[in-house]
Amino acid sequence: MTDSQIKPVPTLPDAQTVTEVEHYTDRLFRFRVTRPKSLRFRSGEFVMIGLMGDNGKPLLRAYSIASPAWDEELEFYSIKVPDGPLTSRLQHIKVGDEIILRPKPVGTLVLDALLPGKRLWFFATGTGIAPFASLMRDPDTYERYDEVIMMHTCRDAPELEYGRQLVESLPDDPLIGEFIGDKLKYYPTTTRDDFPHKGRITDNLTSGKVFADLGLGIDKLDPATDRGMVCGSLAFNLDMKDVLEGYGLREGANSDPAEYVIEKAFVD
Ligand code: A2P
Repeated sequence: MTDSQIKPVPTLPDAQTVTEVEHYTDRLFRFRVTRPKSLRFRSGEFVMIGLMGDNGKPLLRAYSIASPAWDEELEFYSIKVPDGPLTSRLQHIKVGDEIILRPKPVGTLVLDALLPGKRLWFFATGTGIAPFASLMRDPDTYERYDEVIMMHTCRDAPELEYGRQLVESLPDDPLIGEFIGDKLKYYPTTTRDDFPHKGRITDNLTSGKVFADLGLGIDKLDPATDRGMVCGSLAFNLDMKDVLEGYGLREGANSDPAEYVIEKAFVD
């Protein structure tokens, strides 16, 4: 074959190459892809990613970037929905495959959408931990707050594994460990099997259990000092909105920072 007969491999528009894939359960997996040189984002933002559909059109969904801004690659954490248009296919990606990534990050779960405070709470169910996987690795998080509390709830312990491994690796991380010190507290719970701490985030807040278990010396969130970021299912987000507003926290936005921000964990 001569050079002129070699056809270039067709490349997707905005293509990025998969560099790592790790499966946690039959419902959850994580993957890493190359990062477009031009992509700048704020921790907590999401981008549209996906695959080319059978009809030749890109099939894209919103995915929070789970990696920190200083990482040279991008990480995503995903659910696998058996008949989900995208994730039923995305779950089979392998190292070397290409995905489509539109390099336009947006989102409300950013530190700039919150007024300064003392204590920052991350509230997540399921894959809603993804934006916090980025924010927990951002030095700015620890420069702005004295204490950071990651509450994460899943049905069972294997579903908590991605978050557990990440949080436990952070104190020894050569880049971020020194910023974290003893500021980061982790409160994982399950709702459907045995685990050291059980129960929904909403219940563990309203009952005061999380404050007692962490020895925080408080019995409620205080709008003067506490800030919250929420990411989970629609039902969870709505219930959390009620709980946080019950404490007197107000919803903020990029253009109008306040005491908490909220975003749906995007699923198929
Ligand atoms: P539960 O098991 O009591 O439904 P899912 O995997 O269905 O997305 O759920 C993830 C976690 O979020 C589960 O532990 C689930 O608890 C919890 N959850 C679901 N809905 C709510 C809600 N409205 N408020 C608080 N937690 C919720």
